[in-house]
Amino acid sequence: WPAYAPLVHAINTLKKEKNAVILAHNYMTPDIFGLVGDYVGDSLGLAIEATKTDAEMIIQGGVHFMAETSKILCPIKRVFIPSMRAGCSLASSITGADIRLIKQRYPGVPVVTYVNTSADVKAESDICCTSSNAVAIVEHITKEWGVNQVIMLPDEFLAKNVAKQTDVEVIAWHGRCEVHARFSAEDVRDMRAAHPGVVVLAHPECPPEVVAESDFTGSTKAMSDYVTDHKPQNVILLTECSMSDNVAMANPETDFVRPCNLCPHMKRITLENIYECLLNETNEIFIPEDQRLRAFKAVQDMIEVKF
Ligand code: 13P
Ligand code: SF4
Repeated sequence: WPAYAPLVHAINTLKKEKNAVILAHNYMTPDIFGLVGDYVGDSLGLAIEATKTDAEMIIQGGVHFMAETSKILCPIKRVFIPSMRAGCSLASSITGADIRLIKQRYPGVPVVTYVNTSADVKAESDICCTSSNAVAIVEHITKEWGVNQVIMLPDEFLAKNVAKQTDVEVIAWHGRCEVHARFSAEDVRDMRAAHPGVVVLAHPECPPEVVAESDFTGSTKAMSDYVTDHKPQNVILLTECSMSDNVAMANPETDFVRPCNLCPHMKRITLENIYECLLNETNEIFIPEDQRLRAFKAVQDMIEVKF
């Protein structure tokens, strides 16, 4: 038996005893993703699963903002994060007070907030978006408000990548994902030269010049679906390292070139701290109810937009 087998067994047993589910993001390591995660997916998919589960406890295999999103949507469930240190450089780039100032500066312009933000920031926002629905949300909210401008926060690169796909004027903030910002256009050109014919998929948190050099851009789920649907012989996923490991498990016929960057926050979630969290019910997420209700509107309105 591999060394982690007793831990996997203990986690799966505790989940049944406590009526708990693990919502695991695509960036979880393969042991978590493949052996204890009950639902796996991108930020939008996990948020939707949180609303559907009958479990009493949700253990978020992801980062803090994802656990807050689950709590915002499911206040009667107990939501836990195995490490309170699993943050996000985008979430820490902006506060609710920043949004209030921005709204004063641009009255009448809707604020579209990436889900990679705290509950405090979501509470000040008009609607949320994820990497999979950002263009649709921008077009939906501008139509609803009868305007042709949005403020899109906090990811500068996501905002610029979205701006290229719509006629709406997009006003950006200066947040960046510390993982995706490290890829460069030169990296992509070098990789293409070293691996002729390789298909390059990029997450929209990458700089626009990286997206421009890529064959496809989409959320972590969209990248995974692309590999499953198109079955490229050789592929590069310009994103977090565990993505290639997890997508490779389901696509053994594809070769993965792996110029990945690790997300230190995602990597703070381990089998060990998932077990401790389940056993001792530590690191529960609490959000003040008035803040949660305002954040709920922004997240729920996003979920209701069909795209
Ligand atoms: P997805 O919504 O595409 O899964 O992205 C979440 C994230 O944090 C990417 O860095
Ligand atoms: Fe945040 Fe980037 Fe890590 Fe995603 S990969 S959780 S955006 S720091």
